[in-house]
Amino acid sequence: MYTTQDIAAIRTQVRQWRLAGKTVAFVPTMGNLHQGHITLVTEALKRADHVVVSIFVNPMQFGQNEDLDAYPRTLAADQAALEAAGAELLFTPTPAIIYPKGMDKQTFVEVPGLSEELCGASRPGHFRGVATIVCKLFNIVQPDLALFGKKDFQQLMVIKAMVEDLSLPIEIVGVDTIRESSGLAMSSRNGYLSEAQKQQAAQLKRTLDEMAEAIAQGQAIPNVVQHAQEQLHHAGFKPDYLSVRNAADLSEVQADDKQLVILAAAFMGSTRLIDNLSFERA
Ligand code: PAF
Repeated sequence: MYTTQDIAAIRTQVRQWRLAGKTVAFVPTMGNLHQGHITLVTEALKRADHVVVSIFVNPMQFGQNEDLDAYPRTLAADQAALEAAGAELLFTPTPAIIYPKGMDKQTFVEVPGLSEELCGASRPGHFRGVATIVCKLFNIVQPDLALFGKKDFQQLMVIKAMVEDLSLPIEIVGVDTIRESSGLAMSSRNGYLSEAQKQQAAQLKRTLDEMAEAIAQGQAIPNVVQHAQEQLHHAGFKPDYLSVRNAADLSEVQADDKQLVILAAAFMGSTRLIDNLSFERA
């Protein structure tokens, strides 16, 4: 696997592949890779001839009091895992390469509406940062398709909306969340948790499962949400939000909506975890 910080080198290699009639898949990441990321690479290899990965801890998507500096950087281990998974090209730019004029003078991309609620309400500016870096990376790599984990359900929807709104010729593929045997969704931020907190945190997925079952059985959503909030408090979480939405567009649930998604963000200690569960009600 070839690792580079050079935008021109990425473009040259991808152009060569495309001239040879090959397809290119892209997996953007912030590094500190776990099985969820590796699954994105293996899924990418099923769909394309070549896989490009990026590792960039994007400062634009972190708020002032968030964990930008503490975010784990594990390049050597990440490179080994990506190489073993079959990725061929790794882009590892620095902030100065991505934002040479500084972030304040950087043109940005913002998906209105979707970016402002749920995680967007708790983390103002977060999805502007995500949309901007993903758009830039798409323009650098110019892939045929790009893969994202469904754990970041709202992020996936923001990216799909951006691609549609800006007519980008890239297929966006969402890949199912990979979980620990306890049910805890894999996340780089799980590394901040103690073993005891990891066990407690597994309650998040159990709560989502119970909520989906209760709603599918016809229980009123506000009651189900309130009960779940109490359950999460009891398990040691400080819930940030817990919301049931229409799975197609994250709008508020209407009486005849069938495809729903429960989205949750909750603090375990100082670590903010997110998870979601899509389900159908009769
Ligand atoms: O999901 C992530 O790791 C990041 O938000 C992404 C998509 C790589 C953009 O920085």
